Amino acid sequence: MKVIGLNGSVRKEGNTAIIINAVFGELKNAGIETELVSFSGEILQPCKACFACGGKKNCVHQSDIFGEIFQKVVQANGIILASPSYSADVSVNIKAFIERAAVVADMNLGLLRHKVGAAIAVARRGGALNAIDTMNHFFLNHEMFVAGSTYWNIAYGHMPGDVEKDNEGMETMKNLGINIAYLLNCLNV
Ligand SMILES: Cc1cc2nc3c(=O)[nH]c(=O)nc-3n(C[C@H](O)[C@H](O)[C@H](O)COP(=O)(O)O)c2cc1C
Repeated sequence: MKVIGLNGSVRKEGNTAIIINAVFGELKNAGIETELVSFSGEILQPCKACFACGGKKNCVHQSDIFGEIFQKVVQANGIILASPSYSADVSVNIKAFIERAAVVADMNLGLLRHKVGAAIAVARRGGALNAIDTMNHFFLNHEMFVAGSTYWNIAYGHMPGDVEKDNEGMETMKNLGINIAYLLNCLNV
């Protein structure tokens, strides 16, 4: 069993990475393999609306890391989309990933069927809930099961490391990890 986490922050080791690792800690405790992919230093191109991906199971445009990452996503049992709140929504790299992954999945039905999805976000102050909604919309129209926690999956912090002071946010991430593991075990994948 494997869960992949996509970090949409431009900071490789910022708050978003910290909350992904908090979720991963509980997954590892449950014996689940994890892989963190960072979009830091990358610029994902948006969908070109060519719809050439039908039957190809991946985007036909290979000028960035999208194809490699999408392949990993298809092979994983669980997907964590993680974003900092930028302008009260997801980062552009997470948005570009969602645009392209959604079209590839629409054109190749069943690619993401019955995987577990979880959206997590950090914010200095506002917009994290919008970011969560954007990411959950992607899971929910691709036949995926969305895991929840003891609060919405958000945590607060501005500069790298700040999020560790948000005790409730960090607890929410740990409980999310426990719930993802439970769901994966129920699905018996
Ligand atoms: C371009 C940009 C836009 C941001 N927009 C928001 C915002 O709308 N609301 C907010 O609360 N914080 C905003 N922030 C702050 C980040 O969400 C916050 O610093 C977060 O902890 C960054 O996570 P990271 O350390 O993983 O990059 C913004 C930061 C940047 C760089």
